[in-house]
Amino acid sequence: MKKNPIIPYILIMAFGIGLIFFMSLDGADKKEEIAKGGEEPKTEEAAGEFDPEAFAASKCISCHGENLEGAFGPNLHGTGLSADEAKDILQNGKGSGMPGGLVPADNLDAMAKYIADLK
Ligand code: HEC
Repeated sequence: MKKNPIIPYILIMAFGIGLIFFMSLDGADKKEEIAKGGEEPKTEEAAGEFDPEAFAASKCISCHGENLEGAFGPNLHGTGLSADEAKDILQNGKGSGMPGGLVPADNLDAMAKYIADLK
């Protein structure tokens, strides 16, 4: 029987697919690490618990500035807002620039309190 000339190519293909598979497993392992971006290692201990500061760092600083001290959006320190008022803004947004609904419903109270307490 003559050797099928396609077999080497099939072997290479199988090897390639296997390689991709194992590389993706490696990536899946590091998924959380990558998602965290290596920043704020202290959020690790609070895994599962809501950390308003870490949440702000991921969702709010893009508009409110690095320390929430104002950029595109206003300074969030010393707003004089009560926790209830802050909660309303977080739920419904404000003006044309502040989007509502960024904070998951379960975490609204914690986030609102955090904002109201920023001095
Ligand atoms: C897309 C940009 C953007 C993002 C993201 C954003 N904000 Fe805002 N935010 C604004 C703007 C602009 C205003 C001012 C709205 C106005 O007064 O018309 C504002 C206003 C506010 C106010 C009211 C401040 C005051 O003195 O009345 C609070 C509180 C607030 N943002 C909290 C947050 C929090 C908490 C987050 C993250 C969950 C967040 N914002 C994310 C743009 C943003």
